[in-house]
This record gives sequence, C-alpha cells and structure tokens, in this order.
Amino acid sequence: MNFRSDNEAPIHQEILNAIIEANAGFEESYGYDKFSDHFTEQCQQLFQCWCEVLPLTTGTAANSIAMTLACPPYGSILCHEHAHLNADECGAPEFFTGGAKLIPIKGDHGKIDLNALDNYLSHTGVHGEHESLPSVISITQCSEAGTVYSLAELEQLKAIKQKYNLTLHMDGARFANALCSLGCDVAEMTWKSGIDMLSFGATKNGAMMAEALIVFNPHLTKEIKRLRKRSGHLISKMRFVSAQLNAYLKDDLWLKMAQHANDMAQHFHQTTNAKVKFIHPVEANEVFCQLPVTVIEQLRIEGFEFHVWPGSTDIIRLVFSHATNAEDVNRLAQSIMQQID
Ligand SMILES: Cc1ncc(COP(=O)(O)O)c(C=O)c1O
Repeated sequence: MNFRSDNEAPIHQEILNAIIEANAGFEESYGYDKFSDHFTEQCQQLFQCWCEVLPLTTGTAANSIAMTLACPPYGSILCHEHAHLNADECGAPEFFTGGAKLIPIKGDHGKIDLNALDNYLSHTGVHGEHESLPSVISITQCSEAGTVYSLAELEQLKAIKQKYNLTLHMDGARFANALCSLGCDVAEMTWKSGIDMLSFGATKNGAMMAEALIVFNPHLTKEIKRLRKRSGHLISKMRFVSAQLNAYLKDDLWLKMAQHANDMAQHFHQTTNAKVKFIHPVEANEVFCQLPVTVIEQLRIEGFEFHVWPGSTDIIRLVFSHATNAEDVNRLAQSIMQQID
C-alpha cells in the first residue's frame, strides 16, 4: 500500500519486455542505433513538428542540459521556489551552466505567480552588467504541488517570454499526468504554447530509467550533442533507454498509465473530500492533505506508506501511479473516513 512516490512503482511489463527484445544481438552505440532513431521519429510525429531528442536516464540531467542550451554562465533562470530545479537538484543547473543564477519566484499551489514573474522581470536591467541576465523561465508541469498550468496560463507565460525575449523550459517529469489532466493535444501544451525545451519524463510513469530532453527551438541545438557528452550523459548503450521510450509511447501506453494514476487520485479525493482538507487542488496524481497526527500514526500502523511533508507534522503527500491498486485506495479512504467520524 505504497503511496510514497511514483518513483517507487514497478516498471510496466511492456517496457521490461522491450528492454529484453532490444537485447537481441549487437547494435551501434552512443545513440546511432535503430531504437533511438525510431524514438526521434515517434517524437516528431507525436508533437507534429521538428524536434531534437536526447534520450537520458535522469530528469536532473534533462533539466541541467536544457539549461546549458539556453543560459550562459552569467545568465539567470526563473522558476518556482519549490521547483525541482531549485530545491532538489543539488546545484546541478548552476554547475552545468558554469554558474548561472536561479531566481526563485513565489506562487500558490506550486505554480509561478505570473504577475510576480512579470514584475520581477520588469525591474531587471537597472544594474546593468552588475546583475545576471534573465535567460530562461522554467515551469514544472505537473507542478511539485500536483497542480497543472492551464492552457490560458501557458498562453500568459508565452507572452511574458516573448516580452522579455527569454527561453521557456518545461520540466515534464510528470508530463503525461499533466497532459491527461488537461485533455489537450501534446503540441498545444508544448511548442504551440511557446515551450522551447521539454524534459520529458517516463520513469515515474512506468519506465525503468528513461527520460528525454526534447528541444523544439532549432536555435538552441547547435552544440547540444557536445553539451550532452560534456555532462557525462551520452549513454553508450542508448538502445536500452530508447527501447523503453518506444514501448512507453506505443499504443498510448504512457497515456493509459497516467490516466489510471490520475483517476486513482481523483477517486481518493472524491471519497474523502467531505472530511479531509486538501492543501492543493487535486489535478493529477499527487495529493496533499492535512490529517490529525493521530490519524497519520494509525494509517502507518495499518501499513499505508506515504511521506509526511517536510516542515509539517500533519500534511501528507500521497502519490498515485500506474500500478496503484484501486482496492488499496479504497482501504486508505475508508480508514481515514472511519477515523475522522
Ligand atoms: C518535478 C521533477 N522534476 C525532475 C525530477 C527528476 O529527478 P531525477 O533526477 O531523480 O530523475 C523529479 C523527480 O523527483 C521531479 O519530481
């Protein structure tokens, strides 16, 4: 009864099978294999546009390489204060960019406050060369609070990016969950909304270790392959990452898995909403709720696993995944509802 993280969920069997199938014989290394070519083709079809695609094994690598493409060492990256990039990557974006500055922006429910962002940018430049050059806006979709930027919000972000001539990056560690939540087209949620670079996550949604950096803006890709190599993320046996990503996209497996995870979260929300306080809107597969400490202790005794949110004693995070079992969700909801009676 694990609700701790989608990172703890198993690999989907189809993806595991794809790794085994890719193991038949020899293949060219360093990305010059048929699996990697096929993944690029699939991405270009899916997003209905040209794009440069780098299969990678971690989201931190995807985010960091993205930053090196668009942010010089003297530049700055604007992101939400709780963005993975800012809070959970141990300075990797600063390291890989050679010292760029991260500027954390506040905002409710894990999303950048767009007025605060515009306000910040409108005041930059007054110190001339004494200040870092705003270069990139990075948003997380879904956000770290489990919320999703709407298409209207993305449109506003695009206008800000254009107003200040910046590059727009999307950390899509849970991209599929966000896409299912909005129910829109992939192109609409990305390049049509001004996204230049996407960290496309698959690991949390059923892959073993498979992420990709997808770049839609051809002006950013000139030295992308060297930058990947310099970062230590040019994988010699890339076929095994690409094979996972191909299986992930095949027959909409990625969307089916994400939809299941989102449905489980919605089901939990609907069955407990009458008595439980939810800290953020439930829009995808991560849920944050406040419960009496005694209830939290009892849930632990009953074998439910989850995180108590750092800095609090009574806010828990529940993460639902492709492998979440509906019966476990019912048991959890039932236990909470009975205890709060
Ligand atoms: C929002 C977000 N971005 C990126 C990542 C990528 O992390 P990792 O480098 O562990 O793959 C994560 C993983 O927790 C995440 O939640």
